[in-house]
Amino acid sequence: MDENFPFHVAIIMDGNGRWATSLGKKRTYGHYIGSKVVDEITKGAVKLGIKYLTLYTFSTENWKRPKSEIRFLMALLKTQLRKKEKLFMDNGVAFSTIGDISVFDERVKKGIEELKEKTKNNKKMRLTLALNYGGKHELTQAAKRLAEDVKSNKLKIDDMDENTFERYLYTYDMPDVDLLIRTGGEKRISNFLLWQSAYAEFVFFDKYWPEFTVSDLETAIDEFKRRKRRFGGL
Ligand code: IPE
Ligand code: IPE
Ligand code: MG
Repeated sequence: MDENFPFHVAIIMDGNGRWATSLGKKRTYGHYIGSKVVDEITKGAVKLGIKYLTLYTFSTENWKRPKSEIRFLMALLKTQLRKKEKLFMDNGVAFSTIGDISVFDERVKKGIEELKEKTKNNKKMRLTLALNYGGKHELTQAAKRLAEDVKSNKLKIDDMDENTFERYLYTYDMPDVDLLIRTGGEKRISNFLLWQSAYAEFVFFDKYWPEFTVSDLETAIDEFKRRKRRFGGL
């Protein structure tokens, strides 16, 4: 295993709206083009040897947006789920999600479950969409479920450590994030993968998500390889 390679890459795909607005178009056009970029980056990531690609698609805070934009995003999600099977099967991609998807409508939930089931034996890369995901929400629901298990004597408080806690996270079967990329110029984490990014390397791009290319992904990986990770050691 090459320690200098980011096995788990997570991306905050930001800037769809500003990109579209800068072209005199509606924000939703940015989301539509952004969804095409997701396909290109998925294929590129497989070719580059990334094993886990996790994409911030809709946050627990994004519900604050105007109803019309949310409606567009939900419709886009629905059509994208329907279209993804061939892409994932052709490229050996196993699909999964993190976040509370219970709030989505039945057809979206069914689409997610079917896609997970159909792609579950694919081995090249695991693609995870963060849907209605928030890091604080993830940690809170983990604490609640853990407390339930203590109450019902399934778990002893003294047996609890970081590894036990991780089992209650959405990412229980995934490694921590190695490389976290954010497009769109902002330099913040916006409630994404708070626990899992504890020692992630951050690479920021000023360009907007619809402009992001596989070559940019390679640039980020090159930057990652130049970093010296110490994890608190010397
Ligand atoms: C990211 O792009 C996509 C989502 C959050 C759904 P934005 O929609 O945040 O675009 P900007 O940041 O407003 O330009
Ligand atoms: C983060 O982008 C969420 C996603 C990319 C899905 P936001 O646009 O919601 O983040 P803020 O509001 O700039 O922090
Ligand atoms: Mg944004």
